[in-house]
Amino acid sequence: MTSKERQNNMETIMRAKSLQGSITIPGDKSISHRAVMFGAMANGTSKISNFLPGDDCLSTISCFTKMGVQIEQVGTSVIVHGRGIDGLQEPSELLDVGNSGTTFRLMMGVLAGRPFHSVLAGDNSIAKRPMNRVSIPLLEMGAKIDGRENGTYAPITIRGGQIKGIHYSSPVASAQVKSAILLAGLQASGTTSVTETHRSRNHTENMLESFGVNVVRDGLTVSVEGGQRLLATDVEVPGDISSAAFFLVAGAIVPESTITLLNVGINHTRSGIIDVLEQMGADLTIKNRRVINQEKVADLTIKTSDLSGITIEGEMIPRLIDEIPVIALLATKAKGKTVIRNAEELKVKETNRIDAVVHALNQLGANIVGTEDGMVIEETERLTGSTLSSLGDHRIGMMLAVAGCITESELKLENPEAIKVSYPGFFEHMKQLRVNS
Ligand code: S3P
Repeated sequence: MTSKERQNNMETIMRAKSLQGSITIPGDKSISHRAVMFGAMANGTSKISNFLPGDDCLSTISCFTKMGVQIEQVGTSVIVHGRGIDGLQEPSELLDVGNSGTTFRLMMGVLAGRPFHSVLAGDNSIAKRPMNRVSIPLLEMGAKIDGRENGTYAPITIRGGQIKGIHYSSPVASAQVKSAILLAGLQASGTTSVTETHRSRNHTENMLESFGVNVVRDGLTVSVEGGQRLLATDVEVPGDISSAAFFLVAGAIVPESTITLLNVGINHTRSGIIDVLEQMGADLTIKNRRVINQEKVADLTIKTSDLSGITIEGEMIPRLIDEIPVIALLATKAKGKTVIRNAEELKVKETNRIDAVVHALNQLGANIVGTEDGMVIEETERLTGSTLSSLGDHRIGMMLAVAGCITESELKLENPEAIKVSYPGFFEHMKQLRVNS
């Protein structure tokens, strides 16, 4: 139906009668990036299964390929032939991360300790995102880093080499910042530690341990000793809760729905969406809990239910930062008012997600006011269709596609291909679950 339209940069979404059935959620983006990176830095061959073949993770593969690492990728299977961190070679071309902030910032940490010159760049969105949150601590460690506006914006050039461990108190709860510093720390002299304001996602810590690295965790501080080697290991990637979130919300708000999402990672540092759904009164069941490579996984069943507005703030924010666009949509269907605060980080995501969400949902008839650090969302009885763009932001695109399942008239989504960044099969899954009449 839609693949042709998608090529013409437009996807039409009709109101759904209900959603029924089950889907297997594709691999986690954060974990897929790290599996490739750590495999490339390790000695030996690492096999990755359930890898996410989204554009962002493919950018990570391409960057390491340009540094001489042999990586075989067929769909969701990847084999990384690591030659150790010292085996990375100076790239003779630009390292293009596309739209991927995670690739960019984690690579900065890897490159800070490599004795060669490299240049990192990406698309228009990447060029607007602040990279000084990573260059500041890496400069303190002794790496030579430059970029537009004093090392703030891409393209960023790095000449790494001998670096020393630091203790860094990060002003932002960011796993990208924490991970970049720890990856540089593995190549630095002495100990490197990072203290956060709130705990951000901990996949780097978990996976470094699987690759044989000793990681010390003490409250909000994580430390590594320099000089440790990574040993190749196989990684099975759990499903991405940030992708599942779109269907969790869809299941909660599309009338008479019951859907099951299989193989979803429910790591506590990522599972804020589950807490929010439960606090709002959603009908959510968590089954088949298990652990894969230190990551908790489960199957989630969601049914339509009445919802109530809540306040989302503080330590909860990093646990659901990527889910806020779709939580805003959820909140339009929750009785009363939902307040989101302490989420100023939204302004420096793939788009300014406070502005993007407020503008898009208000266009559909919602009643949302943007604030300095979040938004206030009132319940809206009816959302109406419109023509809106993803703005090149995958999560805005998917939020709008879910909104289209409940708008009174059809929703036309421009630039839907942005969704391939994190969920290449999104529209196929939506089609599979939809009951149209
Ligand atoms: C990510 C960390 C988060 C998140 C991003 C992925 C990661 O960004 O928003 O989608 O894989 O480390 P910040 O570190 O900027 O919070």
